[in-house]
Amino acid sequence: MSETPVTVLGLGDMGTALARALMKAGHRTTVWNRTAAKAEALAAEGALTAATAGEAVAASPLVVVCLLDYDSVRQVLEPLGDALSGKAVVNLTNGTPQQARDLAAWAAGHGAHYLDGGIMAVPPMIGTPAAFLLYSGSPDVFADHRAVLDLFGESHHLGEDPGRAPLYDLALLSAMYGMFSGVLHAYALVRSDGVAAADVAPLLGRWLTAMSGAADGFAQQIDSGDHATGVVSNLAMQSAGFVNFTGSAGDQGISPELIAPIGDLMARRVADGHGHEGLSGLVELLGAGGPGAVQTR
Ligand SMILES: NC(=O)c1ccc[n+]([C@@H]2O[C@H](COP(=O)([O-])OP(=O)(O)OC[C@H]3O[C@@H](n4cnc5c(N)ncnc54)[C@H](OP(=O)(O)O)[C@@H]3O)[C@@H](O)[C@H]2O)c1
Repeated sequence: MSETPVTVLGLGDMGTALARALMKAGHRTTVWNRTAAKAEALAAEGALTAATAGEAVAASPLVVVCLLDYDSVRQVLEPLGDALSGKAVVNLTNGTPQQARDLAAWAAGHGAHYLDGGIMAVPPMIGTPAAFLLYSGSPDVFADHRAVLDLFGESHHLGEDPGRAPLYDLALLSAMYGMFSGVLHAYALVRSDGVAAADVAPLLGRWLTAMSGAADGFAQQIDSGDHATGVVSNLAMQSAGFVNFTGSAGDQGISPELIAPIGDLMARRVADGHGHEGLSGLVELLGAGGPGAVQTR
């Protein structure tokens, strides 16, 4: 087998999917998990199992880490110390930009080459064209192991700052949670009137698809600082209508807590004299930055 041997630390749902993608492509794959039983299915499929994280790291030049959070990553990697020297460490664990920068500095101190990553996929999407992954940190690790990383999904390197991939990851996931919040509120609302969620789902999917294009328009307005030009749904109108969302929730006996915050921001922005603008202006209430602070890549 000529493919690069790869180690995977962490065999939760995602680590298991990553290991399977490697094995399917013929990589000698060594796996380790804190709870050893989770490695049994992969071992039956041909993975090599390591009794300790140290043994797993020693087995391959490329180490993929996919644990719950950075605390668990630290708990697993720190005792290994200089055993990581010369290794390419690709950490796909969700975290903050600062956590990624701190871990990259720690890894460099032990001679490891560090690449951080964010996975824009759920486990069944790994290895399919629907998956994409965001990376930042060592350009050499990305270039040297690009073929391996592409097995997980389409790979994007966002620069040498290890914090950049988690920044994008958290931004995309924030938008996802905003969408999910709205979806859950929508289903609670119709359920309160005896309507099955499944009856609404096709129309909801169509509506979300139609509205997803707003992200591009908002981006232009936010980068330019001009939230008024070309507006067809002014904020005063939207704010006046929004009381119906919170009001109907009260009438129907459901909590408005998933959607109420944006209504409060709309009312504040209108009160500040921006009722003629569009929704994108709410970003100005969230702090940090402004058009002058934007860097182009
Ligand atoms: N699943 C998804 O849809 C998805 C999508 C994108 C990104 N991600 C990210 O991928 C990472 C893994 O997610 P997952 O879905 O695989 O989670 P998971 O199924 O809950 O698995 C968590 C993993 O972390 C390990 N772990 C937790 N605490 C540990 C500790 N203190 N020491 C050693 N190992 C520890 C667990 O080991 P044990 O088995 O011993 O508990 C397990 O291997 C997360 O950062 C997540 O945000 C997940």
